[in-house]
Amino acid sequence: MAKISKSAAKERIVLLRKELERYNYQYYVLNAPAISDFEFDLLMQELQGLEKMFPDLQTADSPTQHVGSDIAENPETGTGSAPEGKFVQVAHRYPMMSLGNTYSLEEMREFDARIAKAVDKPYNYSCELKFDGVAICLTYRNGKLLHALTRGDGAKGDDVTRNVVNIPAIPHELKGEGFPSEFEIRGEIYLPFEDFERLNRERDEVGDAPFANPRNAASGSLKLQRPEEMRERGLGCVLYHILGENLPFKTHTEALQAAASWGLPISHYSETAGNIDEALAYINRWDEARHNLPFATDGIVIKVNQLDLQRQLGFTAKSPRWATAYKFKPEVALTPLLSIDYQVGRTGAVTPVANLEPVPLSGTVVKRASLHNKDQMDLLDIRIGDWVYVEKGGEIIPKITAVELAKRATDAPKPDFPKVCPDCGTPLVRDEEQARHYCPNSDGCPEQIKGRFNHFISRKAMDILAGDATVDMLYDMGYIKTLPDLYDLTDEQLMSLKNWKERSVANFRKSLERSKEVPFNRVLNALGIRHVGETTAKTLAGHFGSIDRLASASRDELLQVPDIGDTVADSIIAYFADGRHIEDIARLRAAGLQMEMRQSDSKRLSDRLEGKSIVISGNFSISREEMKSLIAAHGGRNTGSVSGSTDYLLAGEKPGPEKMRKAEKLGINVISEEEFYTLIQE
Ligand code: IVH
Repeated sequence: MAKISKSAAKERIVLLRKELERYNYQYYVLNAPAISDFEFDLLMQELQGLEKMFPDLQTADSPTQHVGSDIAENPETGTGSAPEGKFVQVAHRYPMMSLGNTYSLEEMREFDARIAKAVDKPYNYSCELKFDGVAICLTYRNGKLLHALTRGDGAKGDDVTRNVVNIPAIPHELKGEGFPSEFEIRGEIYLPFEDFERLNRERDEVGDAPFANPRNAASGSLKLQRPEEMRERGLGCVLYHILGENLPFKTHTEALQAAASWGLPISHYSETAGNIDEALAYINRWDEARHNLPFATDGIVIKVNQLDLQRQLGFTAKSPRWATAYKFKPEVALTPLLSIDYQVGRTGAVTPVANLEPVPLSGTVVKRASLHNKDQMDLLDIRIGDWVYVEKGGEIIPKITAVELAKRATDAPKPDFPKVCPDCGTPLVRDEEQARHYCPNSDGCPEQIKGRFNHFISRKAMDILAGDATVDMLYDMGYIKTLPDLYDLTDEQLMSLKNWKERSVANFRKSLERSKEVPFNRVLNALGIRHVGETTAKTLAGHFGSIDRLASASRDELLQVPDIGDTVADSIIAYFADGRHIEDIARLRAAGLQMEMRQSDSKRLSDRLEGKSIVISGNFSISREEMKSLIAAHGGRNTGSVSGSTDYLLAGEKPGPEKMRKAEKLGINVISEEEFYTLIQE
């Protein structure tokens, strides 16, 4: 580190501490990190360096001395005014620490040299993936889950037991025998990429701001005020550290094997290394192979395996001396920002999307990146023509993390976030809670109307055989304005569409006819009521049974329904207060759509798949949606990706090779469509 005067160091230290506390708050409490982990770690290293250089400037409250807290307290105001801070805080029996980390293999060797110097017995390492999720601490007493705490500030955490019990991988009761009467086991709750993308698509559809990455999504899920929602999210859990009094194990790996025999989810990717060279080989292997994992990893953790040596090595203020993390550098590309598009979604939300000079990054060519919202643009202070850093960290959708100011042209124009809707010209309104801008002209804005049609015909809604291009044509020709118009289209109108022949008309008609059998919960989803997506529609349809009963429900009655909060209730009330919607519903009913649950819709066929987690892959003789309903009707749970807690991989024709490999590796039962039918009929 370059030489620096004490007074300059002091000034810099104060600034760094303030910044790091703010970033910690944005990361752990708001689940909205403002900078990448890499940038954060660089600032932390700088602060550590300065504190080392001037030890008398070191203070106990420096962020180098404590872990970032997920407890909802704003560092700037010192008040607990952050969202969703309604959990009881419980003291950790053993402090919950963080890990030292480095981006350098050389420093990994230095770590090993420190260990070798401090101990006088042979040792080996447990090498593990560093899961990029949210830390969780589970306590089991007499084989039963007693509670689940977040890391909190390391000394006390939020009690999130009521949410965690809805994560299928976490057993409420242990199996097997020989478990200590009380122990803690710590690990990570994470969201696989596939479930993360699905969740964001669903959020986008109902007008909720998407999560920036799977970690934020997992963390947001853990603090949900409506625990039942957790089940739908597809969260996974992996446990990697057991603590307790007088545990009968000699090594960490032995302890985890025992945990696995009690039904606890442990990682299948861990390996032991006899020395640091083997550990570095593990790191090099995963630096490449991690790109094929179905979940996010941000590094490798190596731990001295012998528990007596762990005890001997002990802890620093913040982390164990017997373990450290090697973190993968995010792959970053630098490329010019050509322009920004402002896209209008079906709910009217306006999303800025950056058009970039195409640039290769982690195996794909990136041309576009989301800028999320106006706040994000302001934070980056982005200008058109700027060279921007693009990252694909844990997330699939690339994001712009910073601007290269040294390359900024003096005349680079600042983009103007539109004041009016780019599609229909209506003045935009800002939704403070979601930090998003909306076009309020929901019934006159062409993009929103077309978006609503696209949602209506989508597979999870009415499943009508048509695509965006057909909707565009029908709308542009003036044939459809409101949803029921779809059912009034004449053959003549359809034949006038470009490239449409008798056959396409007949197929389209057939799918319109079929849509009249679609159950009411999907019809309700199809209507596109803001904040009412697939899951909420199911809940509402199950509770009220018909559109008439839902339409006449009071706000209080809506709030009585499990999972329905203020936002959804208000949105439903507003929807039915609009006479145009009532007219649409009347016409859709007259066209023959299901406006109430039929007995067969809600009937549970059997409990044969009760508690079973099933992943489906490939094509079946019925549609995937029907297959999912069938699984649910027999009490099973359809999940997105294969994990240790999957019971069956149901493989149709041409199943995904990645899923098949994973299932084979984990020893998951792979069953064919026929075998599945036998299973549910047994
Ligand atoms: S061991 C006392 N093992 O990374 C240290 N941590 O940045 C116990 N993490 O706080 C942690 N994967 O939340 C350990 N295989 C793994 C991990 C892991 C992810 C998380 C954990 C920790 C953080 C440090």
